[in-house]
Order: sequence, then C-alpha cells, then structure tokens
Amino acid sequence: MARPPKKRRIAILTGGGDCPGLNAVIRAVVKTAENVYDWEVYGVRDGFEGFLAPKGTGIVRLTRADIAGILPQGGTILGASNQCDILAVKRGAKVRDESPRVPTLLASLGITGLVLVGGEGTHLAGARLIELGVQVIGVPKTIDNDLAGTDFTFGFDTAVGVASEALDRLHSTAASHHRVMLLEVMGRHAGWIALHAGISGGADVILLPEIPYDPARVIARIRSRVAHGRRFSIVVVAEGARRADGAQVFRSGKGADPIRDRLGGVSAQVADELSEGTGLSVRSTILGHVQRGGTPSPFDRVLATRLGSRAVRALAEGESGRMVALRCAEIVTVPFKVAVSRLKTVDPAGDLVRSAREVGISFGAADGSDDPWFLAREHHRAP
Ligand code: F6P
Repeated sequence: MARPPKKRRIAILTGGGDCPGLNAVIRAVVKTAENVYDWEVYGVRDGFEGFLAPKGTGIVRLTRADIAGILPQGGTILGASNQCDILAVKRGAKVRDESPRVPTLLASLGITGLVLVGGEGTHLAGARLIELGVQVIGVPKTIDNDLAGTDFTFGFDTAVGVASEALDRLHSTAASHHRVMLLEVMGRHAGWIALHAGISGGADVILLPEIPYDPARVIARIRSRVAHGRRFSIVVVAEGARRADGAQVFRSGKGADPIRDRLGGVSAQVADELSEGTGLSVRSTILGHVQRGGTPSPFDRVLATRLGSRAVRALAEGESGRMVALRCAEIVTVPFKVAVSRLKTVDPAGDLVRSAREVGISFGAADGSDDPWFLAREHHRAP
C-alpha cells in the first residue's frame, strides 16, 4: 500500500466542449488550493479520456508555472473532449461503463477530491463517481447557459458579446444594401444566446427552440417593416430553432444521438423562405465556434474565478455531490440533481421575452403569441 502523500491532492477535469473561462477556473482552483490549504492540484487531460489513458498518464501535476498567464486565454490548458462519456465508452461494437476504474486510479495517485467542470453530461458522470465513493464538486460550464441551478454559466457572456458584435457588423452592411440579414448562433435546446444577443444587437426577429416559429409570420413581420419604410431587417436564429411541428435542421444525424448529431443550417432554410416570401435580398451567416473561442469577457473571468475558488472551499468543508452556482450575485452550492434534472430554457411567458416584444421584436410565434404586441402597436399608430 502506497504511503499517503504529505499534502492533500485534488484533481480538476474540464468535461464536454470548451468554453471561454475554463482556464480562469483552473487557475483559481490551483491558486486557492495552494494559497489557502497548501494542497497539490492535478489536472485530468482531455476530459474523461484522461481517466482511460494507461497507468495514470492522463493525469498530470499542475504547478504555478502551468497556470501563469492563462487567465485571459480561451479554451482549456487541460484539453477537452465532448466525444467521451465515461459511463458509456465505445470499444468496437461494445459500450462499457468505465466509471469504476476512476476511484482506483485516483486512490493510486493519492488524490482525494475531484473538481468536475462541465455541463449536464459531466455532472451526470459526477453523480455516478460520488456513488463510487469519490468526493466531487461540480462547476457549471456552457456557453448555452442552459444548466439549471445557476443564474448564469461562465462563457455565456463572452458568447453573447461575440454574437452582439457580429450583429453590429451585419447591421451596417444590411443597411447599406437594404437587405435582410440572418445570424445563426449556438443553442441546441435553449435560445439564451439568441435572445440576449438579439436584444443587445437590435434584432427585428429572433427564432428560439422554445417558441416554435411559422415562416409565414416571419415573412409578414419583414413585409410590415418594409411597409413602414424600414429598408433592412436583422433576424437572429438559434441553431436549435423549431418549427411548429417541432422540426429542427441537422447538419449530421437526426438528433437521436445528443453527443454526435450536430445541428446547423436552419438560417439558410429560413433565408430561402424569406427571399421567396418578400422578394428582398437576403443573406445568412453562421457564427459557429467563433462564439466558443478566444478570450473570456471580464464578467466571465470574474465568475469563473469565483466558482473555482468556491469549489476548493467546498471540498475543504467536506461537501460532495454539490455544484457551485451563481444565485442572486452570491456563489452558493446546490445539489447535483438540481443541475441534471432539467435544462434551464427560456420561458416564453417570462419577463425577458416580454421586454423583447415590448420593444418590437417578433419571435415568428406559430401560436400567435406575438400578435397582441404588434396589434397594440398598429392601434397606437392608427390616425
Ligand atoms: O453545448 C455548447 C455547444 O456550443 C452547442 O450550442 C453546440 O451545438 C455544440 O456545443 C457544438 O459542439 P461541438 O461542435 O464541439 O460538438
């Protein structure tokens, strides 16, 4: 039996896709562990794949030198993989739950606590590791902002900033050419990026997964703008935007496999319909992974730092199976089940959607829920 290490050892893993602010979390975990508790920190490489590497080679010591200068850097110095689910690892034709090897591996390295940074899938795996006896604290991460239990996830503010800047740029060229410009942004199940960027970028129409749209209503909205002398229009489309029949547009697969099937291309479909339905010149842009890359915004750096240091504090206080979260400006911990039991999606009847409608944004709502707002406006305009 190996002698226990002199200092406590903890590990950090960044699961799922990357996200601006991951490095800020890693930095905060290493600094807090060393400064406050005199612990050593280890990093798991490439998400859960690091646990599958032979003889613990996927787990490396993280020193001060490793984290120097990483605060403003995008991505994750540990590497990411959103293709590996430790609960269902594909080996040829077979699929195996490889989670039982994690406690043994961690024990062999003298590691007694794990910080898991990730989204819903990462927290589901974390829940299994807790059952297997590992002390785990979760840190919510996704640019989509769709994790329940936290007001915001880091990376979201950065993504909204990138999308807003893109809209500002599209505005000037749309105005010059009297065009309808569509911008497709990320958001598989939740339209938070589309909604926030659309409001901040002055969109005329926003299409979300949560409010099924009818192309005829989008066409009517653009036509009404033309009738009121508006010579250009801006439409923001979440990649997961749905029609009234629930249909989404996939680049690969049909949506049955949430890890491998990729959404994308709905904006081109809507662009063709708008072009035909309005006779206007229409162009569409897919922003894609530009939203996920690059330096985190100041808000995300602060949030990621707070979440990272709070995660270490939670381990020190003996907590496990809890996720650090932003709630009403405070960092608290909430049970994992809050994060994994449901997705946090846009409330079609909520205050944010209402404000958007009040300033004249249409959601192309198939159920007619936009109508009262536009009817009211026309009424006030009537001579
Ligand atoms: O979960 C974040 C997200 O950005 C989604 O909005 C998007 O569909 C997905 O990741 C794309 O991830 P990847 O291309 O890495 O599979």
